[in-house]
Amino acid sequence: MITLKSEREIEKMHEAGKLLAATHKEIAKMMKPGITPMDIEKFVEKFLADNGATPEQKGYQGYPYATCASVNDEVCHGFPTDKPLENGDIVTIDMVVRLNGGLADSAWTYAVGEVTEETQKLLDVTKTALYKGIEAAVVGNRLGDIGHAIQSYAEGEKFSVVRDFTGHGIGKTMHEEPTVLHYGKPGKGTRLKEGMTITIEPMLNAGTWHCKMDSNDWTARTADGKLSAQYEHTIVITKEGPVILTDQD
Ligand code: MF3
Ligand code: CO
Repeated sequence: MITLKSEREIEKMHEAGKLLAATHKEIAKMMKPGITPMDIEKFVEKFLADNGATPEQKGYQGYPYATCASVNDEVCHGFPTDKPLENGDIVTIDMVVRLNGGLADSAWTYAVGEVTEETQKLLDVTKTALYKGIEAAVVGNRLGDIGHAIQSYAEGEKFSVVRDFTGHGIGKTMHEEPTVLHYGKPGKGTRLKEGMTITIEPMLNAGTWHCKMDSNDWTARTADGKLSAQYEHTIVITKEGPVILTDQD
């Protein structure tokens, strides 16, 4: 069942989203060669606690950390490690913040130091793909319009769209209906309504979209070892258009 949120619920999610956006902006400042994903994990734990919030991912279905930190060919759900990030790496930090009963979910891929032109293009296209998906999230459109907007743009830029992981409804819990595919056909799927809160979180790969699982049963990486990037926002659909609850601007 898809739940439509009240203004009060949306306001709480927006407060969580603002704190999550502020967390990402702090991480951006820390992102230099030599820092470890575990340094970021520890920073996030403290920053959220200091701001009266909790990391919703920690303990979620047994996931052990506040953040997912997916480096280079890791697609998602990477465990933060003590291995220093190196110049030219990319790392996706994904977090879900709970504040006063409101939840928000946002992932961002960071360049570490100087990355190649090709790598930068993957980041730019993935971020633009997210915003194209958000633009399609208007009342009256259908979920397939979001997926199609992302897929047609991404594939036109010669990147592939991961199929194994999706966006989702979010509200009282991190994962609710509907499932938000990042590929699809225009005019197909569930109709979008005012008050729906969803995430859009495309993962784009430089090579094949196929993934393989690590032995930790969490971390997915690209089947061909090429790079993967992801940007994710939590949004609410309103009569006036989509509103980004995790906006960093
Ligand atoms: N934040 C992720 C998402 O976008 C959820 C990660 S699963 C967890 O859906 F176990 F790490 F929480
Ligand atoms: Co999500």
